[in-house]
Amino acid sequence: MIEIVEGDATDIATIMPIMSDAFDPAFGEAWTAAQCLSALAMPDCRLLIAKADDAVLGFSISRWVLDTEELLMIGVVKDRQRQKIGSLLLIETIKNATIGNRSQLFLECRDGNNAMDFYSNIGFEPIGRRKNYYNSDDGLRPDAITMSYIL
Ligand SMILES: CC(C)(COP(=O)(O)OP(=O)(O)OC[C@H]1O[C@@H](n2cnc3c(N)ncnc32)[C@H](O)[C@@H]1OP(=O)(O)O)[C@@H](O)C(=O)NCCC(=O)NCCS
Repeated sequence: MIEIVEGDATDIATIMPIMSDAFDPAFGEAWTAAQCLSALAMPDCRLLIAKADDAVLGFSISRWVLDTEELLMIGVVKDRQRQKIGSLLLIETIKNATIGNRSQLFLECRDGNNAMDFYSNIGFEPIGRRKNYYNSDDGLRPDAITMSYIL
């Protein structure tokens, strides 16, 4: 059974293998442990971890300011993708944001990332585009699509 639990900075070492496995290195989207640490040092930042027994299968990091929450990171280990683990993490993030009285959850996703279908499937809608936001190994500069979920 998959369990979603709240984590903290002491869990960074356990999520880093997922960071390396889940994210395509061509786009430089994965965070370093230092970036995770500086995010999780902020009080209004939450790490959720998806576990099955003792295995860590996925994680998400979100942060809120006043009534707006941003999903900063979400990843599921490659060989367990498309098994609704990401959905469990995202639904728990939505639930926590609702309990915290946030009015909107938003995120940025690279244009062309299949994750856009994942977000749309949950109910996120595209609301904006940031041109050439990402760098990729092939020299192209993909746009970021801003997506929003009204709580
Ligand atoms: C995005 C991610 C977190 C989704 O997690 P997941 O556990 O694989 O997703 P789920 O199984 O909950 O997917 C739910 C639905 O979302 C959609 N979806 C998920 N992944 C998809 C994909 N690669 N292509 C198309 N649709 C997808 C499907 O509708 C899916 O339902 P279905 O499998 O019954 O068709 C995962 O693919 C991942 O770690 N990707 C790499 C890291 C990344 O890009 N993160 C997002 C950065 S913005």
